[in-house]
Amino acid sequence: MKLLHIIATPREHESNTLKVANAFLDSLRAKHTDLRVDVIDLFNQDLSAVAGDNIDSKYTLMAGQPIDKQHKEAWAQIEVLITHFLSADIYLISTPMWNFSIPYVLKYYIDSIVQPGYLYKYNEQGQPVPLTLGKKMVCITSRGGDYSEHSPFHAYDFQETYLRAIFGFVGITDMQFINAQPMDVTLELRQAAIASALEKARDLATNSEWQAVQPVAGTENPAELKPHRL
Ligand SMILES: Cc1cc2nc3c(=O)[nH]c(=O)nc-3n(C[C@H](O)[C@H](O)[C@H](O)COP(=O)(O)O)c2cc1C
Repeated sequence: MKLLHIIATPREHESNTLKVANAFLDSLRAKHTDLRVDVIDLFNQDLSAVAGDNIDSKYTLMAGQPIDKQHKEAWAQIEVLITHFLSADIYLISTPMWNFSIPYVLKYYIDSIVQPGYLYKYNEQGQPVPLTLGKKMVCITSRGGDYSEHSPFHAYDFQETYLRAIFGFVGITDMQFINAQPMDVTLELRQAAIASALEKARDLATNSEWQAVQPVAGTENPAELKPHRL
């Protein structure tokens, strides 16, 4: 069983998000001794530009055409990222909220890996069909303020809605969120929110089913997705 830990905070040892994520990982490791964990630390990762030759390639693929030799070399770096992403059974995304959404490095990574023909495809009617099936995702987030359901700022949470939308689009619908909030109001509120998130993280790791489910061909349902192009 392989888990890919996608880290989108630059705060390393100070990180509120990683405190919770590490508790989740410790509990999961304790329960599943066969667990392999790969890490992609996005603030310490050189991602290739989604511009120049690579943006040409993206549009070529969207048109259902093969990439020519000239573009293949740059595209190979995107393919390495995609292959690495697809090699996991479980994803753990550790991300703070930045400006109501995700930090730019995580968006950059998503822009790199969400490619037609790899994570999703278009069918003959031009509808998107998810290809990233049988995977599970846990998103551990932390936020300075409180965006939970009872909060007047709930509608400003574009982080959870966006991550559910983009990964659901490619087929990852088994998603769990643990949102630690508020982190930056008072010390007491932060400590209480971290304690509550730690408990949820340990409980999720210990009491959920993590074995990979083999995807069944044809179970994807393009009719559930809006027919727009990425
Ligand atoms: C650039 C930046 C933007 C932020 N934007 C928001 C925001 O929109 N809403 C919010 O509640 N907190 C915001 N915060 C606060 C962080 O979400 C919060 O401190 C979080 O716990 C940091 O997580 P980390 O320690 O794992 O990096 C922002 C912080 C930074 C550095």
